Amino acid sequence: MLDIKVTRTTAPKEKPKKGEKLGFGHIFTDHMFVMNYTEGKGWHDARIVPYGDLSLAPSSMVFHYGQEMFEGLKAYKDADGNARLFRPDMNAKRANESNKRLCIPEIPEEDFVQAVSEVVKIDKDWIPEEEGTSLYIRPFVIATDSFLGVAPSKTYLFIVILSPSGAYYESGLAPVGIWIEDEYVRAVKGGMGFAKTGGNYAASLIAQVKAHDDGYSQVLWLDGVERKYIEEVGAMNIFFKIDGKIVTPMLNGSILPGITRNSVIQICKSWGLEVEERRISVDELIAAQKEGRLEECFGTGTAAVISPVGKLRYENDVMVINGGEIGEISQKLYDTITGIQWGKCKDEFNWSIVL
Ligand code: PLP
Ligand code: COI
Repeated sequence: MLDIKVTRTTAPKEKPKKGEKLGFGHIFTDHMFVMNYTEGKGWHDARIVPYGDLSLAPSSMVFHYGQEMFEGLKAYKDADGNARLFRPDMNAKRANESNKRLCIPEIPEEDFVQAVSEVVKIDKDWIPEEEGTSLYIRPFVIATDSFLGVAPSKTYLFIVILSPSGAYYESGLAPVGIWIEDEYVRAVKGGMGFAKTGGNYAASLIAQVKAHDDGYSQVLWLDGVERKYIEEVGAMNIFFKIDGKIVTPMLNGSILPGITRNSVIQICKSWGLEVEERRISVDELIAAQKEGRLEECFGTGTAAVISPVGKLRYENDVMVINGGEIGEISQKLYDTITGIQWGKCKDEFNWSIVL
């Protein structure tokens, strides 16, 4: 259990007005959680302080070699005015999987969840209440040693910041167009693909710019070796409905084990749907689409929630899915998962934490 020292802001900021368009990740709340790590001492000085700039040496290791991990989860406000978190224990576990890969010291899971919970409670009034909005939570660790050698840092900062946000895509729940990337790759087995770390996203930017220039919202990555098998999208995992079955790429070390992905698999199975986690080649998709068997496609992620995909482009093939409309399962999953997150539906899996 952390002993968290709280220093409240003396200059609270103006909160977004009801109905104001929030976008994603532009606005930050009044407070943040900060904790230091020092070799030999462990994690120490847990505190909640006013949100503000950090002072770091230009030689801090994170700026040079990217030793950092981040997480993403959300807080929701239910009809009774309670703040709720969705499966924060899963984020704590995944944070440590990323930490291990990046030689960052692990954070005890209960401390991670406590840090997130306490800062959310302090800024609870910042949780937006309109349909489709939430308080996006961004925990992250950065390497802070002042040193230019390539080695694991001996000091770190663990920080949690909060951002009232709306839909990740401007289009909201309207189906997005996705670009299947055939030139660049994001990750390979043995690399860092399964970890949530800045380098994976830096590697993705060039293809994302290319896709945007062509009018597509995001990139769907293929495997880094054969460039044949579907992996995941820039900020979400990907699912297909083929011949009535729900199909998604298996976790193979190069894709992020999404918490929404895991939840969707459990929900679909509870509805009696057949779910396959396996390799899916781009050729299989093209053939299924041509034969009218590719019934739905959607992405899953904390920021993206359930994001229907209406169009997939690969080289000269443009696959329009379900006439570019949201599919029945995609809509039902969106309603179910947001219903659980907001405390409107029965939480039969016990996923929500009421703060
Ligand atoms: N894949 C990538 C690359 C992501 O950035 C995300 C978002 O966190 C996901 C998948 C979905 O993961 P989750 O459902 O845990 O948010
Ligand atoms: C999330 O969904 O939490 C993410 O981290 C996606 C992010 C890259 C915007």
